Amino acid sequence: MPQIFTPSADTWPRVGVGLGIVAVTAAILLGAGLVQSAYVTSVDWVVDQPVPFSHLHHAGELGIDCRYCHAGVESAPNAGLPATEVCMTCHSQIWTGAPMLAPVRESLAKGEPLRWNRVARLPDYAYFDHSIHVSRGVPCVECHGRVDEMPLMKRGEPFTMAFCLDCHRDPAPHLRPPDQVTRMDWSDWTAERAADYGRRAMEAHHIEPSRLDDCGVCHR
Ligand code: HEC
Ligand code: HEC
Ligand code: HEC
Ligand code: HEC
Ligand code: HEC
Repeated sequence: MPQIFTPSADTWPRVGVGLGIVAVTAAILLGAGLVQSAYVTSVDWVVDQPVPFSHLHHAGELGIDCRYCHAGVESAPNAGLPATEVCMTCHSQIWTGAPMLAPVRESLAKGEPLRWNRVARLPDYAYFDHSIHVSRGVPCVECHGRVDEMPLMKRGEPFTMAFCLDCHRDPAPHLRPPDQVTRMDWSDWTAERAADYGRRAMEAHHIEPSRLDDCGVCHR
């Protein structure tokens, strides 16, 4: 009987399976890499807006408090974006004829809000609430980065699940007095004072990290 399967005949299938495993592993690694990359998490990406609004000018140089324009942060789940009237408290007096501000004047005249394109956003299946974070003293800069240095808005942090959980499992070092949450730089305190404050704030607000990573906190 001639040998149908020579000893070397199954080498190819084996190489095939081997290559298959390598390919699947590579695909997973590549996928994980992509998820972490700025391409998917959108950190540093700038989005086109109807008006080139500058946080660097308004929040940084002019020093307008975040809450003047994002009035919901302390009391509601959403921070909210400013109505055209808020821009017009100043721009009916200054830069009144600037071509750059034409869409703002048009919005006021027509009574139609400006359509800002969103930059910092979560998928619908993840729940977020500003007021609880702000009232516990989690500063804007922790999640949105140095907004006061951004000529155009970009995403300061990747809003991955790991980003949320890193803090939820140990919030203490991130807390500061709630009336200071909109301050972008915070170098007045020594490390010991900050640590001591964090410990006391955790107690005062009864914050329990063991509960904060339950799936149901963010997936409701
Ligand atoms: C408290 C006053 C104030 C408010 C409120 C305000 N601005 Fe301004 N804005 C200014 C001043 C002052 C300048 C001039 C800045 C400079 O060039 O020094 C300016 C400049 C601008 C410019 C020109 C480009 C730049 O950044 O220099 C744009 C565009 C603009 N503002 C858009 C807006 C929009 C849109 C709103 C509402 C969301 C708004 N502003 C709200 C005071 C204000
Ligand atoms: C004068 C009004 C004004 C002030 C003050 C201001 N913002 Fe804004 N903010 C806007 C406007 C208008 C937009 C929408 C256009 C854009 O994305 O630049 C916006 C967008 C944002 C966004 C992106 C929201 C999204 O999902 O698209 C964040 C985050 C933000 N602001 C944070 C802050 C923080 C933090 C401060 C204080 C340091 C601040 N803002 C101060 C007017 C303001
Ligand atoms: C713990 C993280 C965290 C903190 C602290 C935080 N934000 Fe946000 N912010 C988010 C997330 C997450 C979103 C996207 C929410 C969504 O898409 O459901 C967001 C969205 C926004 C938006 C988009 C519009 C809206 O209605 O929500 C603005 C504006 C904003 N934040 C401003 C602020 C300001 C100002 C502060 C500080 C007073 C602040 N945020 C503090 C995480 C944070
Ligand atoms: C820098 C710290 C920090 C980050 C980052 C953070 N959180 Fe929180 N989160 C807190 C603190 C502190 C509380 C308040 C806990 C308390 O009072 O019991 C909280 C509470 C919450 C609550 C309400 C929990 C409840 O009591 O039911 C939700 C929902 C939530 N966070 C979602 C998110 C999501 C989604 C993200 C990521 C986009 C995020 N958080 C990022 C610190 C943080
Ligand atoms: C502190 C808030 C928070 C908690 C707690 C949390 N998640 Fe998430 N989760 C998120 C956010 C935010 C996203 C969206 C991430 C993104 O867009 O990249 C997410 C995404 C996911 C996804 C989509 C796939 C992925 O990984 O991006 C799954 C599945 C998921 N969560 C399951 C869980 C399970 C199971 C638990 C409990 C063990 C849990 N989550 C606890 C915030 C949370």
